[in-house]
Amino acid sequence: VRRVRVHHLQQMKERGERFTMLTAYDQMAAEIFDEAGIDVLLIGDSAANNVLGYETTVPITLDEMLPMVRAVARSARRPLVVADLPFGSYQSSPQQALASATRMMKEGLAHAVKFEGGRPVAAHVEAVVNAGIPVMGHLGFTPQSEHALGGYRVQGRGDQGDQIVKDACALQDAGAFSVVLEMVPATVAAQITEVLHIPTIGIGAGPDCDAQVLVWQDMAGLRGGKMGRFVKQYADLRGELLRAAQDYAGEVRSGAFPTAAQSFEA
Ligand code: KIV
Ligand code: NA
Repeated sequence: VRRVRVHHLQQMKERGERFTMLTAYDQMAAEIFDEAGIDVLLIGDSAANNVLGYETTVPITLDEMLPMVRAVARSARRPLVVADLPFGSYQSSPQQALASATRMMKEGLAHAVKFEGGRPVAAHVEAVVNAGIPVMGHLGFTPQSEHALGGYRVQGRGDQGDQIVKDACALQDAGAFSVVLEMVPATVAAQITEVLHIPTIGIGAGPDCDAQVLVWQDMAGLRGGKMGRFVKQYADLRGELLRAAQDYAGEVRSGAFPTAAQSFEA
C-alpha cells in the first residue's frame, strides 16, 4: 500500500476529489479506518474528552497524547497520521511550537501536526514548516479557546467571516498544507475553499470543503449525550456495546457462559 502524503491531498484538491479524515486514538480504530480507506487519521486533542475523561480539551498534555499518537502511527499503514499539539504546548513562541512538533514526530512517529489559530500563530506555523514538519491549521471554533469564545458556538457569522478568510490566507502563506474549518457558516467555508489553493477540511462547515472530518466516537454513535448538529451518526456502537456487555454479564451470572465449547480438556 502506498502511504497518503501531503502532496496527494493537494493533488486531490486540484482534481476536485474530496478526501476523508477521522480521529483515531488507538490501534483498533487505526486498523479499521485504514481498512475502510480513510485518508487521514487525526490524533486529536479531543482525546481529552473522548478517551481520558476530561470535560474539555484544555487539560490534556503532550505527554498524555504521545502514547496514543505512537499507537495510531504504528497501526495505520496507508493513512497520513496527523497529531494535534495540545493547549499550552505551542502558543508561547515559534520555538515552543517547533519543540512540541518535533516531539510529536520523533516520539509520536506522526507525519504532520495540527494546531489552532490564525494570524497570531502564523510565525509558529512557519517555524515548524521550515523544520520540515507539515502543519495543518485549525480555524473557526477552536475548542482550546472555548472559555474565551464563550462555549461551543458558530464562528465567523456576519462581519467576522472576513477575519477567518484572512486567517486562512495567513496560514497558507506561512506554509500550512491544509486548514480545518470548524463550525463556520457554509458560505464562509465555501469562500475560503475557493480562495485557498491548499485543501480545507470541514467539521460543521457545510458541504463545499475539500474534505470532511469527524470525531470517530461521534460518527459511530459511541458517545452518549447530546451531539453537535454537524454530527451524523453512521452506527449505534454505544447501543451495541451496551447490549454485548449486558448479555455477557447475564450469561456469567446465570452460568450460561462459559460452556465446554470455551473450556480446555485435560
Ligand atoms: O481534536 C479533534 O478531534 C479535532 C478535530 C475535530 C478537527 O481537532
Ligand atoms: Na483538536
